[in-house]
Amino acid sequence: RPQSDLAGKRIVITAGGTREPLDPVRFLGNRSSGKQGVALAESAAARGATVILIAANLEVPAPTTVQLLLVSSALDLERAVTETAADADAVIMAAAVADYRPATVRADKIKKDDTGDSLVLELTRNPDILAGLAAGKKPGQVLIGFAAETETDPDLLLALGRAKLARKGCDFLVVNRVGWSEGFASDRNEVRVLDSAGDIVCEASGTKMSVAQRILDLIA
Ligand code: PMT
Repeated sequence: RPQSDLAGKRIVITAGGTREPLDPVRFLGNRSSGKQGVALAESAAARGATVILIAANLEVPAPTTVQLLLVSSALDLERAVTETAADADAVIMAAAVADYRPATVRADKIKKDDTGDSLVLELTRNPDILAGLAAGKKPGQVLIGFAAETETDPDLLLALGRAKLARKGCDFLVVNRVGWSEGFASDRNEVRVLDSAGDIVCEASGTKMSVAQRILDLIA
């Protein structure tokens, strides 16, 4: 593979997990570390691309070879993606984005004395950023989404991936299994990549860096 096969390309990559604020001190979050997205960003920059990394609460250092935009919530991430995707040749949505956020963000810390023994949270649906990008896709732009599912049956995992692909409308969907010790936070990943027709175009397992290289081969 030539080291500069992505030269001249602008690639927007999201990484990490969004945090949805409840009050000034608490949030609803997920266990994404940002490792897979950071591996994609680092590899794409090494292959010559101009990379904009939209980073949500990373647990690993961001590469110094990319333009970094720090975000926290799903709505922040959506804003940053909207601002940068217009002139991107490819957008890779590796971030774990919350599907729901608390319907109201309290101005003061929620207090046990006010809520009693149980507390019910009302949540509001967040916009589907990837589906929005697909709906307004520029000609020639490549959109890559991820599907994180907990099912152990490989066929069911793939079926869920295909259903998600149909809902999102992206060019490639990277299906990975996540669980207590898989996908999230691990240094390794195992993926199957579907094209827009739902056919498997790549199967890869290994370090997140090696998986990133295989995904980038599809764009290149
Ligand atoms: O960060 P690591 O610890 O390295 O872990 C990597 C990973 C498991 C987080 C990563 O490989 C991964 O699977 N990322 C996607 C996680 C996710 O949100 O999956 P999903 O199946 O819920 O969402 C499907 C796709 O839609 C994703 O591309 C997501 O970015 C996007 N999405 C989701 C919700 C939303 N409101 N808007 C979106 O655009």
